[in-house]
Amino acid sequence: MTVAVESPKQTVTHKGFILWFTGLSGSGKSTVSMPVARALKEAGCKVEVLDGDIVRTNLSKGLGFSKEDRDTNIRRIGFVGGLLSRNGVIAITAAISPYRETRDDIRAETTNFIEIFVDCPIEECARRDVKGLYAKAYAGEIENFTGVSDPYEPPVNPEIVLSTREELVEESVHKVLTYLVDRGYVSHMP
Ligand code: ADX
Repeated sequence: MTVAVESPKQTVTHKGFILWFTGLSGSGKSTVSMPVARALKEAGCKVEVLDGDIVRTNLSKGLGFSKEDRDTNIRRIGFVGGLLSRNGVIAITAAISPYRETRDDIRAETTNFIEIFVDCPIEECARRDVKGLYAKAYAGEIENFTGVSDPYEPPVNPEIVLSTREELVEESVHKVLTYLVDRGYVSHMP
């Protein structure tokens, strides 16, 4: 006779850290960061998401897209992310954050900064044109549009690269979660 013994489920433990997604508009930052956040929450982790578009409707309301305004926006996100992560919370940010130096400053000012380059060629982002903004930008109706009439500086040495043109969303999500477990940021995923 066999007796099924249920093994007790081990509680998932984690450190505080910042998952910093960066990439062009339409590259997939939100598409990947949302299911990553959901999986971590379902595992019982403390998670807070600071999405670019959402931050701009409250924390950074009124800011535009000049270099100065973008930097202010990104530094605010970095500041809040730093507060959260140092208190043991997982902060997930998904703003374009186009300037390398600004991202590197935040890396230097925070602990456990994990940079995720959401790598997608601009042709593909423009083909997807989820929000219809690329068509407008190419028509000259939006100024300073990242990748079209404004710079995007890709990370030189990111912790994780997601090639979202080639990878399925699930593969990108899996890559991130595997990294977190392998590096000891999260004990395990149930
Ligand atoms: S960031 O440069 O400051 O990091 P953020 O991620 O907050 O940008 O906002 C980018 C979003 O704002 C884009 O996904 C897009 O929906 C919208 N947007 C409006 N105007 C622009 C612009 N000129 N350049 C880039 N994104 C823009």
